[in-house]
Amino acid sequence: MAQDRPQILSTWSFGRTANAAGWPVLRTGGSALDAVVAAATAVEDDPTVDSVGLGGLPDASGRVSLDASVMTDPDRCGSVCYLRGYRHAAALARAVMEKTTHVLLAGDGAEAFAARQGHRRVSPESLSPAASAAFAEWQARRTKAPPPAREGELPPMNVEERYRNARNEPSHDTVCVLAQDAAGSLAGAVTTSGLAFKVPGRVGDSPIIGAGLYVDQRAGAAAATGNGELVMGVCGSFLVVERMRLGLSPADAIGYVLDRIRDRYRISGEHQVAFIAMTPDGRWAQGALAEGFTAVHTDSD
Ligand code: GLY
Repeated sequence: MAQDRPQILSTWSFGRTANAAGWPVLRTGGSALDAVVAAATAVEDDPTVDSVGLGGLPDASGRVSLDASVMTDPDRCGSVCYLRGYRHAAALARAVMEKTTHVLLAGDGAEAFAARQGHRRVSPESLSPAASAAFAEWQARRTKAPPPAREGELPPMNVEERYRNARNEPSHDTVCVLAQDAAGSLAGAVTTSGLAFKVPGRVGDSPIIGAGLYVDQRAGAAAATGNGELVMGVCGSFLVVERMRLGLSPADAIGYVLDRIRDRYRISGEHQVAFIAMTPDGRWAQGALAEGFTAVHTDSD
């Protein structure tokens, strides 16, 4: 779809929350980078969202860990992973990009960096009431079910039903935000608490540049949500952008990568991967492996 700039595009129904925070930045002449971080932060701050921020569902040990990234170009990207006890992972990813010579900070090091940047530690590090109830239910099911074949594998159950939340969307979802400002610059931000009840230490695609997010001002921007394990092996967001660089439309570039994922993984009914993409000339698209994905687009109309 072709659109006038500025514009902002975010994943899932909480994309409305994201765009409501990011659009005013763009409308008043702010940068795409400021807009995507404002948008991501708004979803991190929403306690009703159980897959982003500290309201997210925990890992198998009962603790929440966050992954996030921001990017504007190959030489301007930053991310944090396995961040615990700090709320604003996307802003922290931006600080990694702007204030260090590194790209990715993990775990204890990311938390120490957050403290040095003046981020407030959330203490005590407790689950939201909804996450706490979901964790207790998961533990109870896990005790009754036969042990999984591999660590972290879910016991047999209707995962789709189990993970549908109040939004009637599967709760394993990342907020991805792409924006283009009035000057035409692109930026992206991605933030998530990752897969519910994951093996402690598991990091998904979101903080991995090229997997969960990729932006190149010369070719376009793309970001991924869904099962990160299906995105990382094909460098999903990078591949979408590279196909746009070769001349494919955003929709066709996303379709190409989804076909690659179908071809290279054994996809089940529980799996979902979705991408959003935007070109430097303002075209955008969304696409998903399975039904049920939504994205929210805002421009001056
Ligand atoms: N796409 C987010 C994750 O897999 O953690």
